[in-house]
Amino acid sequence: MHNLKDKCVILAVSGGIAAYKAIELLRLLTKAGADVHVVMTRSAQEFVTPLTFQTLSSNPVHTELFNLISEREIGHISLADRADLFIVAPATANVIGKIACGIADDMLTTTVMATKAPVLIAPAMNVNMYTNPIYRENEAKLGRLGYLFVAPVCGALACGWEGQGKLAAPEVIFEAALAALSVKDLAGRTIMVTAGPTREEIDPVRYISNHSSGKMGYALARAAVRRGASVILVSGPTCLPAPTGVESVLVVSACEMQAAVMSHASSCDVVIKAAAVADYRPVERKATKFKKQHDAMTIELVKNPDILAGLGSMDYQRPFLVGFAAETDNLAEYAAKKMKEKNLDMIVANDVSQADAGFNAENNRALLLFRDGRSAECPLMSKDALAERILDSIATGLNGDRG
Ligand code: PMT
Repeated sequence: MHNLKDKCVILAVSGGIAAYKAIELLRLLTKAGADVHVVMTRSAQEFVTPLTFQTLSSNPVHTELFNLISEREIGHISLADRADLFIVAPATANVIGKIACGIADDMLTTTVMATKAPVLIAPAMNVNMYTNPIYRENEAKLGRLGYLFVAPVCGALACGWEGQGKLAAPEVIFEAALAALSVKDLAGRTIMVTAGPTREEIDPVRYISNHSSGKMGYALARAAVRRGASVILVSGPTCLPAPTGVESVLVVSACEMQAAVMSHASSCDVVIKAAAVADYRPVERKATKFKKQHDAMTIELVKNPDILAGLGSMDYQRPFLVGFAAETDNLAEYAAKKMKEKNLDMIVANDVSQADAGFNAENNRALLLFRDGRSAECPLMSKDALAERILDSIATGLNGDRG
């Protein structure tokens, strides 16, 4: 689930300085296609005006329980009924306490009590309030009842204190919202994803690498977490933040990636190799920066281990193997050859000669080839959407035979 088209999301904003961050969350939700209806407490309106949320959501903002127009046209019950997901962000200790105790005395608490949709709560408060046993008990109670939480982060708080209590980043809450709406068809599965480039050092300041940004692999890791899998992300050097909920293993060279992958492989149900592993490394890494001396120079290279081929030759506890093929021509033919030679269950062939897809692009297009001879075209789409398509095929493959 990455597209929120046709999803109705209630975004309930309570009164705290972090209320302004709910604007960015609203933007992420609407950008993903959600129909967002904002509910604000009276104190939230002291921090941000309803007009801001109304303009950005293109829907009226709900502030009063006994508002004649909204009661006639929508009403808190019908709003609660329409929700696919209910998000409270920021959620104050007061609002969380009321929800935990079944108090429904305003639009927000009444609507949240009436909804049957999953409720995702993103608390923001002073660190002493957050650690207060009364608050802890309220959160634990709601957790037991199935309410979902996005924990606040540590940092300098508006009240002057340092500690845990800052509202999680809008991107993190958005990711948790996607997860709350996702089918958990990969629950109980362990999936390893490799991502990014490898760097093969020549000396302390120079290396051989490629243009992989890690975006494709990280999109796969995030999507697998959303769908309930335990995810190990083995990543070469990238600028991307580690996705929430993954076990992140950072490596630099192909040999380091091989060691990390092989040490986890037998405990994985699936390995997806989206990383762009350098095929060669310098025979020797100089200990000091070498000096410019000659007009031309030669660096002797040696072949790196083929990590994916190594996985394909595992004869015991071999995971479901998904390779990628980065090609500039003869896409289907070369990819099919790689699938066969490396003994894969599936390969994702992408044409990396196109500027709008492949390396370091936001989008990608691919041809999926399966061991049993089937194939599927995926036209240009976001890497997040392609990740979902790849995982759909993996989920089907895990439930059937491998062709
Ligand atoms: O990271 P992005 O900027 O988002 O770009 C995404 C991508 C283009 C890097 C990605 O979609 C992709 O194509 N990844 C595979 C790149 C690659 O190395 O392709 P290949 O055809 O050279 O290798 C085939 C497969 O063998 C790959 O799964 C690769 O991970 C694996 N391999 C290759 C060499 C090696 N020594 N060990 C390997 O495991």
